[in-house]
Amino acid sequence: MARLYFDGNSELIRDKIIAMIGFGNQGSAQALNLRDGGFKVIVGNIEDEYAERARKLGFTVYSISNAVKQGEIIVMAIPDEVQPEVWSRDILPNLAPEKIVIFLSGYNIYYGFIKPPKDNDVIMVAPRMIGEGVRENFVNGRGFPVLIGVANNHSGKAWDYALSYSKAIGAIGKPGGVAVESSFEEETITDLFSEHTWAGAFLFMLAEGYRILIENGVSPEAAMLELWASGELIAITKAIVEKGLFAQLRGHSTTSQFGHLTWGPKYVTDEVKKLMREAIRQIKDGTFAKEWLLERLAGYPVFNRLWDEITKSDVWRDEDRLYRLLGRR
Ligand code: NAI
Repeated sequence: MARLYFDGNSELIRDKIIAMIGFGNQGSAQALNLRDGGFKVIVGNIEDEYAERARKLGFTVYSISNAVKQGEIIVMAIPDEVQPEVWSRDILPNLAPEKIVIFLSGYNIYYGFIKPPKDNDVIMVAPRMIGEGVRENFVNGRGFPVLIGVANNHSGKAWDYALSYSKAIGAIGKPGGVAVESSFEEETITDLFSEHTWAGAFLFMLAEGYRILIENGVSPEAAMLELWASGELIAITKAIVEKGLFAQLRGHSTTSQFGHLTWGPKYVTDEVKKLMREAIRQIKDGTFAKEWLLERLAGYPVFNRLWDEITKSDVWRDEDRLYRLLGRR
């Protein structure tokens, strides 16, 4: 069993300058939460629309190297795939000993793409929550789960700092909040495993389900609303979180329960189980990380092609029409 922490001492970092490197999904949410909690936050960003947004929200924005020079806690809130380059160019040369580095995912440390010096604490505080949720929960007085880990414990207080930062961003010390003692390795494996198995499969299953319903004479509107556009999924997900994966089924009609229990397992074939094990193998042996690195170095050819196929698909087109009619776009 993992150790769980429900609170921490945010006073440990109260007087430290926190340099938020990046102001995107996580960076903006965490910076806003920290500022509202009375912590000292500066933003390090390249000159782009994110920097503009940070300025508009009243933050002082510096170049990344300048923010690293001033910050005592450096938070890596830029995309995983750009971190190694930014690290060696802007962060490492300005990283004085004793500064605390916080990663929001395990990726670059686990795969060795970033090798931090030994005289810094290197910590992971990885929210199990999208940036929007990090902010929304904070505003509503609720916490959220984070996985915490330590790669370098130079000060001997790295775990305390991990809890302190978790509390400062609003993850723990509030209802719904928990910090799970984990590792850079565990975070990377579990996060990628979800993305490479059920989460991706879920989207493509729904898209295929849409096509099959249409084939069977269902109107595009009825099909799409049934499968994902109605918001029923939000209620089901909420019930899963609150009641449990299967326990929430009791809230469905008995016909629905019977359908779920008889048909659900049919999709978990030996082939699917083999694929899930293959996914984890490619995560653990670095095959996926290498593929993603090469993809970036080549200028994202496959990534762009796949996005192109999606945005030209029937599902994308029909959804656009419906979402416009519903006033969502
Ligand atoms: P994001 O994609 O929202 O990051 C945007 C930021 O990165 C902007 O400030 C932008 O200026 C900067 N940026 C982009 N390209 C850059 C470059 N080439 N050089 C310098 N800066 C650049 O990133 P996101 O999604 O917030 O992820 C940040 C970290 O948080 C990652 O380690 C990710 O794994 C982790 N994380 C993200 C979650 C999410 O909700 N998106 C959830 C949990 C962890």
